[in-house]
Amino acid sequence: MKKIMDLIVEELTPAFTGCGYDEKYVRVTRSNRPDLCEYQCNGAMMAAKAYGKKPIDIAREVVSLASGSPMFLSVEAVMPGFINLKISPECLAEYVENIAGEEKLGLTEPEKKETIIVDYGGANVAKPLHVGHLRSAVIGESIKRISRFMGHHVIGDVHLGDWGLQMGLIIEELRDRQPELPYFDESYEGKYPSEPPFTISELEDIYPAASAKSKKDEAFRERAQQATFRLQSGYPPFRAIWKHIMSVSLADLRKNYGKLNVTFDLWKGESDAQPYIPGLIADLREKGLAYESEGALVVDIAQETDSKEYPPCIVQKSDGAALYATSDLATIVEREKDFHPDRYIYVVDKRQELHFIQVFRVAKKAGLVREDTPMIFLGFGTMNGKDGGPFKTRDGGVMRLEYLIQSINEEVYKKIQEKQKVPDDELQRTAEMIGLAALKYGDLSNQATKDYVFDVDRFISFEGNTGPHIQYMIVRIKSILEKYYEQKGQETELVPIRPAQSDTEKALQLAICRFGETVETAFYETAPHRICQYMSETADAFNNFYQENKILSEPDEDKKAAYISLITLTKRVLDTCMDLLGMESPEHM
Ligand code: ARG
Repeated sequence: MKKIMDLIVEELTPAFTGCGYDEKYVRVTRSNRPDLCEYQCNGAMMAAKAYGKKPIDIAREVVSLASGSPMFLSVEAVMPGFINLKISPECLAEYVENIAGEEKLGLTEPEKKETIIVDYGGANVAKPLHVGHLRSAVIGESIKRISRFMGHHVIGDVHLGDWGLQMGLIIEELRDRQPELPYFDESYEGKYPSEPPFTISELEDIYPAASAKSKKDEAFRERAQQATFRLQSGYPPFRAIWKHIMSVSLADLRKNYGKLNVTFDLWKGESDAQPYIPGLIADLREKGLAYESEGALVVDIAQETDSKEYPPCIVQKSDGAALYATSDLATIVEREKDFHPDRYIYVVDKRQELHFIQVFRVAKKAGLVREDTPMIFLGFGTMNGKDGGPFKTRDGGVMRLEYLIQSINEEVYKKIQEKQKVPDDELQRTAEMIGLAALKYGDLSNQATKDYVFDVDRFISFEGNTGPHIQYMIVRIKSILEKYYEQKGQETELVPIRPAQSDTEKALQLAICRFGETVETAFYETAPHRICQYMSETADAFNNFYQENKILSEPDEDKKAAYISLITLTKRVLDTCMDLLGMESPEHM
């Protein structure tokens, strides 16, 4: 479907050209003075200089030609040369009715369907998920959903940190705790047990203990490094332990991501990229890009146009070990082979920006990725506590994601229990849905790159710019619809959207028209906050409409039926937005 703004441009074009002005001046925007008009055209201001006329004179000429158009309720020239536009209610209603007839609610899918890799989540195996991983999961999930809704072929990859020193630390700590295990018997030749030698809670205890020990105990740290090296060289007993770590940890990660309503198409990790490293290094050498510097192998990435200095990207340490950048480059080689993506989006803490600049530049320079393939680094800011510092537990530790979610859900549970609107058997599930919307909206409503303050009390409020507020509006619509169909019978069909007869009705229709363009903007800007903003404005438009109009008690049945059509569509729009952000709305609240 064409965007309403484009239709306005089409309608105004003959008026401009008819007066002798170039059509490039026909630019339309949403009004920044909604009290005066709905859309505005500033073309006369732009044309004034080129034609040596006063803007207001041009505006008046154009208006005299455009004002007969059935598309507009009013077309006005105002000082110093704006053209203020109001859409005719009939035309608007027809447009909105067309939206209602479309599955994607007016969004036009781009002709070229892209294959897109969204790299997000990025959990480190065997280390508990902490709030730092929250943002990547929440933002990435939403970007995946938005991209998919646009019609693209999207692959979400969790890209686990599953190949680092933490593995050696766990292996050596396990040796200290259970030296009798066959993995540590160099002469053992039998099969290794299929049962893991630890549970998830033991594993969660092993890693922090080992990490703490390595900070005090030099010999232990060396053992861990050695073990990591042996694992990476394929030493069978350590590979066997590694597999156990992976399976126990992954089961737990799936569960935790599941609680966040976050799912991945691929559960790949750094380890999967390892087989591609030797070929990558050889390729970089052959192309004359990688050279030795102080024993290490590096690739220059500086460009003439840089305003600051970028250090070369180290792709191999002097001892031959691969680094984080090597692993990301090798992953690109793998992804190109498997999917040949048209776009890459990485959702990672913004403190890793330099790393990604280096990786992207090497990838392009070496021709691993086509020159015109967008490689987007969406670096997000920190989630802070109310004191302004990074979010911590009460005793100053790193907050586990699981506990954070649990504590929000408990708060919400108390609140909805007190309100007594939710049936007992729905309380738990409802608290989870509201808690998740509170958490996610609190995050996603900010521009991703910015830091934000985690404020439970504000996030879970049913009022203001919050996730629960929007859920509340959806629940309200659900309840109106439920009562309506109880009165009229479930089979009652929807009638067409009618021309708006009040400002609030019109404002709601205008909000609905903006759905498609909003999703498009959110996709091209990689910006879920656009959806939040839109969703909140649409929920407000509904609320104003609801406050001003009786719906169920409306005596005119035709009018009532048209209202029902409008709020049904409003609900579809809001539900879709919720889904794009990875949230759901409950039945009662
Ligand atoms: N595991 C990394 C971390 O915790 C994040 C991974 C991000 N993705 C990537 N392709 N490097 O810092």
